[in-house]
Amino acid sequence: MTERTYQTDAIAVHWDSSRCIHTGICLRTLPAVFDLATRPWVTVDGADADTIAAAIDKCPSGALRYDRLDGQPGEQPSDPATVVPMANGPLLVRGDVAVRLRHGDEVTHEYRMALCRCGHSQNQPFCDLSHRGAGFKDTDPQIRSGRLQAESPDDLGTAEAP
Ligand code: FES
Repeated sequence: MTERTYQTDAIAVHWDSSRCIHTGICLRTLPAVFDLATRPWVTVDGADADTIAAAIDKCPSGALRYDRLDGQPGEQPSDPATVVPMANGPLLVRGDVAVRLRHGDEVTHEYRMALCRCGHSQNQPFCDLSHRGAGFKDTDPQIRSGRLQAESPDDLGTAEAP
């Protein structure tokens, strides 16, 4: 697991590798900042803070987060909250959502999460991509076809890990 923070005077970008599900949305949305060919892979001064924040808001897993250091408002949660199955993968959760254990202890409280639904993640309750090795497949044709996905199918491609 790798956790990194990249920061300017205006924004701090946080990346948690254990949460990344490699959709590649950040890479396609803002290649001037998120580029696997550079080291570090985040060039935080490659765009203004508003543009970076808008790109990170699209990250479905919460692997990318940010804090505004320029006094501008931070991320706003989706309202209403949504829970959408990604074909053959996790549940994509958006909104002001707390995940609690059965007896009420809070595991996390976040705005974006990819929750494991295959049962094989070693980082429960989050997806760690173990569904791929486990051969997890949806049987529901609507989910398999992607028609229930919140993002367009193009947005849910794959990319190599940084
Ligand atoms: S759904 Fe991804 S590890 Fe279970």
